[in-house]
Amino acid sequence: MTEFAVELRNVSKRFPGPSGEIVNAVRNVTMQIRDGEFFSMLGPSGCGKTTSLRMIAGFELPTEGEVYIHGKALGQTPPFQRPVNTVFQNYALFPHMTIGENVAFGLEMKRVPKTEIEGRVKQTLEMVRLPGYEKRRPRQMSGGQQQRVALARALVNHPEVLLLDEPLGALDLKLRKEMQLELKKLQREVGITFVYVTHDQEEALTMSDRIAVMSGGVALQIGNSTDIYERPNCKFVADFIGETNFLNGKVKEQRGSLAEVDLPGGLSVQAQSEGTLTPGQAVSVAIRPEKMRLLPAGARPASGEANRYAGRVESLVYIGTDTQYGVRLAGEQSVRVRQQNNAPGSRPLVAEGEAATLHFPPEAARVLTE
Ligand SMILES: Nc1ncnc2c1ncn2[C@@H]1O[C@H](COP(=O)(O)OP(=O)(O)O)[C@@H](O)[C@H]1O
Ligand SMILES: [Mg+2]
Repeated sequence: MTEFAVELRNVSKRFPGPSGEIVNAVRNVTMQIRDGEFFSMLGPSGCGKTTSLRMIAGFELPTEGEVYIHGKALGQTPPFQRPVNTVFQNYALFPHMTIGENVAFGLEMKRVPKTEIEGRVKQTLEMVRLPGYEKRRPRQMSGGQQQRVALARALVNHPEVLLLDEPLGALDLKLRKEMQLELKKLQREVGITFVYVTHDQEEALTMSDRIAVMSGGVALQIGNSTDIYERPNCKFVADFIGETNFLNGKVKEQRGSLAEVDLPGGLSVQAQSEGTLTPGQAVSVAIRPEKMRLLPAGARPASGEANRYAGRVESLVYIGTDTQYGVRLAGEQSVRVRQQNNAPGSRPLVAEGEAATLHFPPEAARVLTE
């Protein structure tokens, strides 16, 4: 049996709601988090991320199922006896204490001998690249440095797993982006398993080895950034991560991993499909805006005739690196197309209001059934 750093096995959590109803905060979630992994739980507000994290920490107990750390079932083990530590969103340092005292605080609570505390504080501040900062005060440090002190405060207890609940949520965008890279780097160096909660898809893609995408208390898909972005397993994941066009239609036929789907307006589309489809089945075909090509009207793409459509550019937004086009196809369907402005002095490929050709290879489109 492989031993995971953290494992949730068929974990559910129900709460009594405000008017006596039952809130299914987490529903039958199974996750296996590997040792040394940067693992994120990603999903919109209320999807059960914090509750899942709190069950690992021991602040909540599962209604059903079990949490394991390094193969050991945790049962009702109280938080302070679990080999984990949590960094919360409002990680406020004690402003009247020095950095050294802030980091030492948890060890003092645990009555670790003074002589040992000093060494461990020193070592942990080195670990977060703040060597010799013991005597400083929080207000003398930048936001990013304070964040690292917060991390030091959690790492000084030598946890096997660090739990982080939207720790960058309160920071402004620029600092947040810096800290994402910083945290990821620190995690690599320290080698501790991080379980990271965020509602920000870009943040999760940037930092994580693997991501669990959650909605309504369920873990819909677990995979690395490429799995989740390139091969979403359902509409929610395709829609939540990045931007996706959905073309709704009915299956015409399936040949191996390729399916043909009839769309309104007499159009049809060829797309990748996993699993078995039945003719007539209602499905959505998902295509990313940047995976489509916009060409002048009547152009014949070299890469083949499949998925070539006549359209009209309805809207055009220049956003520097890219231009985003709204293209109307037959059958009242519209798609968003994103084209990189990689030519010097880029001009729009097709002007607003003009007829155009839209093309994408079958490999760029995916059939989703739910
Ligand atoms: N202690 C609680 N009592 C009642 N309902 C709760 C409690 N904690 C969380 N919930 C509910 O459980 C759901 C999931 O919450 P939470 O795990 O905090 O979501 P997230 O962190 O993804 O925003 C929400 O509907 C929330 O209102
Ligand atoms: Mg939360």
